[in-house]
Amino acid sequence: MNAAGSPALIDHIAFLVPDLEEAILWWSAATGCTFSPIARYRTSRWSDRSDPELHDHDARISFSKEGPPRIELMEVTGEGALGAAEIGPHHLGFAQVRDVRARMARLAAIGVGDDGWSFTKDGTALVAFTERSALDGIRLEMVSPLPGPIVADDGSLLPLDPATGRTDLWAPR
Ligand SMILES: [Fe+2]
Repeated sequence: MNAAGSPALIDHIAFLVPDLEEAILWWSAATGCTFSPIARYRTSRWSDRSDPELHDHDARISFSKEGPPRIELMEVTGEGALGAAEIGPHHLGFAQVRDVRARMARLAAIGVGDDGWSFTKDGTALVAFTERSALDGIRLEMVSPLPGPIVADDGSLLPLDPATGRTDLWAPR
């Protein structure tokens, strides 16, 4: 068996940008895609190479309505996996990964390391990134089907989309 377990379709392709508002305008003009209102992936249980201990992470994000694969735009955050040195093509996102730790362990077994994790209170992995250099400059992102800690840009809660179980980025603000 390969490290993926089975071939997986790409849910989204992500780019790290210095200014999210500007990127949304630019990517909308260039692709014709419609981008969601800005949201935040906000957690106090983030770990990456900048600090392996759990720490705060508050990344501003926007997804295209079109897809999959959707386009994800993320704003530079912190000094690690989303730091300014990482601007540009960032990751291929795979959704509905039921056991993120097991998938990452299979990748580690073939030499693909990790850099960036988000955990629940009980230690379940919600998201994990592979390390950039392992796959020719692009990361893979494994995303659990559990709802992630995503809030509106102003910090208010967003509902879950009953169809997908994911945070509804398109909910009225
Ligand atoms: Fe992503």
